[in-house]
Amino acid sequence: MSEPVLTELNGGVLTVTLNRPEKKNAITQAMYAALAEATNRARTDDAVRVLLFRAEGDSFTAGNDIADFIAVGQSGGGQVTEAPVFHFLKALAHLDKPAVAAVRGRAVGIGLTMLLHCDMVVVAEDALLSAPFVNLALAPEAASSLLLPMVVGHQRAFEIFALGEPIDGRLAHAWGLANRAVPVDQVDATATDLAAKIAARAPNSVRKTKRLMRDTERLWALMQEEGQAFGSQMSSPEAMEAFMAFTQKRAPVFG
Ligand code: COA
Repeated sequence: MSEPVLTELNGGVLTVTLNRPEKKNAITQAMYAALAEATNRARTDDAVRVLLFRAEGDSFTAGNDIADFIAVGQSGGGQVTEAPVFHFLKALAHLDKPAVAAVRGRAVGIGLTMLLHCDMVVVAEDALLSAPFVNLALAPEAASSLLLPMVVGHQRAFEIFALGEPIDGRLAHAWGLANRAVPVDQVDATATDLAAKIAARAPNSVRKTKRLMRDTERLWALMQEEGQAFGSQMSSPEAMEAFMAFTQKRAPVFG
């Protein structure tokens, strides 16, 4: 079986590919661990100048694997900040080298919120980005409760969170979530070109520029705060109803 997360270093660009297309690249605990490792490598390995996230198949990612949500929810939630997803979020918050994303198809949940930590985002015009945390009776994560309203404004961010309906790539671009919206067959090439351009710039200058633009400690503190809300929701009856409804392919009924 091929690995669900692939990495390749080429010309200073560390490309990380989500490779579980049969499940729309839904991210399991093991995949978060691999994403955390790759993101930490990007920060610490001098050979890496740019991190590029992309995906195989027709979707960027369907977000967190819902079977994992059910398992964690049924086990009582545990200390959510110990989970592999948090290792990935911590690595993203602390990444001080540029990250680029190439997004085709669906980008759900963390598939959208991780883009808020990327410095350049290329989306397909017909990509569909959504953060249906409330539909799953959960709460925003990845510091998106701060970063999404900062990028798109409060009302748009609230709509994205509370209604959970997707916005397409053109709208994501118009709202400032993406640098480029291009035809789907040009997404990977456009993102690869941008990553190569950044990799050719003076690396210390690029790194200092990114550091000055972000408050890492604030982001990480907020991620942990959000994690408490997310964790307590995860083991709630309303979340379990939402997860079961997904697996049973029906609409949830909340009280
Ligand atoms: N977790 C686990 N499995 C998932 C998944 C997820 N988040 N998203 C999709 N899959 C699986 C489906 O169960 C299905 O598996 P099966 O073929 O064994 O039945 C397979 O991936 C294909 O998904 P399907 O729903 O048939 O594709 P679609 O094109 O009709 O819809 C999505 C794609 C992304 C819109 C839909 O799968 C979806 O809504 N997924 C859940 C997204 C979500 O809420 N994620 C959590 C965010 S916090």
